[in-house]
This record gives sequence, C-alpha cells and structure tokens, in this order.
Amino acid sequence: MRIAISTGGGDAPGLNAVIRAVVLTAHDRGWNCVGIRRGFNGLYDGSGLMPLGPEQVRGITHLGGTILGTTNRGNPFNWPETLRDGTVVERDRSDELVAAFARESIDALVSIGGDGSLSIAARLWEKGLPVVGVPKTIDNDVAGTETTFGFDTAVATATDALDKLHSTAESHDRVMVVELMGRHAGWIALHSGLSSTADVILIPEIPFDIERVCEKIRERDRAGKHFAIVVVAEGARPRHGDIVLRERRETGGVDRLGGIAAQVAGKIGELTGKETRTLVLGHLQRGGSPTTFDRLLALRFGSAAVRAIAEGDFGTMVAYHPPVVDRVPLSEVIGKMKDVPLDSGVILTARHLGISFGD
Ligand code: F6P
Repeated sequence: MRIAISTGGGDAPGLNAVIRAVVLTAHDRGWNCVGIRRGFNGLYDGSGLMPLGPEQVRGITHLGGTILGTTNRGNPFNWPETLRDGTVVERDRSDELVAAFARESIDALVSIGGDGSLSIAARLWEKGLPVVGVPKTIDNDVAGTETTFGFDTAVATATDALDKLHSTAESHDRVMVVELMGRHAGWIALHSGLSSTADVILIPEIPFDIERVCEKIRERDRAGKHFAIVVVAEGARPRHGDIVLRERRETGGVDRLGGIAAQVAGKIGELTGKETRTLVLGHLQRGGSPTTFDRLLALRFGSAAVRAIAEGDFGTMVAYHPPVVDRVPLSEVIGKMKDVPLDSGVILTARHLGISFGD
C-alpha cells in the first residue's frame, strides 16, 4: 500500500503533526507514504513527490506550517492558466491528476484541508480516487466536526495579543479595534474576545449597528472606564452594509477579506470623539507551534485516517465528536459552512458578562 498525503489551502498549526501520524501509523502496518508538494501542484509542476518515512517526520509534531508546502491556488478542477495576452482562464486538469496518481502507483490519498480542499477531495472520490479527508483550518468553519486542528492555536495567539493590548489601551484612554481572521465565521473572534474580556465582539453571524457599539463605549466612559477593546472578525458587517474585501479574485482563488477594523474605528472616532487605533493581527494567527490540544487532535486525525484506509472506508472525513474521533461522509460536509450558532452557550455567556455584539 502506498499512501499519498496532500496539504491544501491556507496552512494551520498541526499540519505537520497529522503528516507524522499518517506516516508512522502507515509504517506500523508496513505501508509506504509519499507527500505531494504544494497541494496537488507537485503532480503537475515538476516539484514532485516527497518520500515520507519515519526519518522524514522525526521532530515535526511541534512545528507550525507544513513540510509539504501548500497553496490555495491549486484547484485541479479550476486550474488558473495565464494566456499569452495576460488573461487568466480556468481549466479542468482533474483527469491529468487522476492519471498521475495511477502513474505513481498511489493506492490512497489523505487530503488535509479546509472546505475548499475537502470539496476537491470529494470530487476526486467521485472520479474513483480512494480518498480520506482530514479537516484543517484556523477558522473552525468545517461542518461535520466539532472542531478543526489549528483553531485552538489561533485563538491562543489572538487571546495573547488582546491581553497585551489592554494595558496600552487603558494607559492612553483609547479604543483599540482589533481585526481577527475567520472568513465568514466568527469563531476566532468570539472565543478569543470572550477569553480576553473584550468589551465588544463583532462577528459575521450578528450584523452590527455602529450606534450600539458606540453606546457600549459611552456607557463605559460614564462608568469611569475610558478605554475599550473592540474585536472585529474580518467577515463582520454592519446591519445595512457589506463585508469589506481587500482583494476580489475573479479566477484561481478566493476573495481576500480585510479592512473592516479601519471602518469601524473611523466611525467610533467620529461618533464618540474618542481616540481609536486599529490592529490587524493577520497571519500571526496561522503561525507558530500548535497548542497541546491541536497537536493531540492532529495526531489522532492522522492516525484515524490510516485506519479508515485500512477498512476501505473512502470518501469520508475523520471528525472530532468529543470524546471520539470518528468519520463522516465527505458528501455531508462539503459546501456547508459551520458558523457560530446564535443560541450557542459561548454567545450566551458573553452576553451575560456584559459583552456587546453591537446588536
Ligand atoms: O482560511 C484561513 C485564513 O487564514 C482566513 O482566516 C483568511 O481570511 C485567509 O485564510 C487568508 O488567506 P491568505 O493567506 O491567502 O491571505
């Protein structure tokens, strides 16, 4: 048995731990592994395959990033190609990919990724490729699993940053508006905002009214607390407005979100007269060593993916349903973003603790 491993989409802390667990669990059965470099690109662009044995995965559990490299521009079904006149068109190269798997004598694929990569995995499974998915993303928005690895580390990084901003906000009587990642889901903003005692948390699931945000800041002022921490998820939007994009990508990728913190801060300054500053935490949330929770989850996912292969249970994704790691069909997961339920206990707790969602 020869298993290929692919890491696709944005990186997340814990990817290397999954790779290690897949390789060692496979090795334990006498099976071989290869890594595909940069998503699936390695099978197209000559960067090739990386042989993976116990030696290659030694000492990588705690490392951020992925030893295989990754890309969020490598969809084999919509492959971006630049024509001579500079226009970019999309081409379906999936048949080439399936042929490459056969050429390389690959018996099964472990595809580690978020919704984008898992959708590709599901379509490859439809084409007959034996695939098992492993859910990854700091955004925690993959359906069918309680959590993805990478999320806990991102929340820890964001919480640490918010803790540090408190003292400078307080010293200067300022409002600090902090933009966090998460795309169209507010998990990172909600969990780190609550854990670090933010005053306002704005998430995509609850469109906000800037007047309500300012009211919270004025209320604090009246109570003698002249500073405030406002956490904004990058996908948050005002009640009668749109999400803010940094870059729209027509072909070969996904839109880049960003810029909502500057808009919110501008309005707060204008409406309250308070000095405001912004921080976009950005890719710091994707970097660094995975937390213990993420390492354990990633290792369990990797090992479970090989057990799925051993049982011939393809077209599935390993999933965390505490306390167990089990499997769900990929078809039940893809295209269904998991956002924060409005009646979630975490939202309720935040509200009871006096945090405003701007609604
Ligand atoms: O999906 C993970 C994520 O970090 C999002 O939170 C963010 O919007 C996006 O990726 C950023 O992508 P890129 O690294 O391509 O700018």
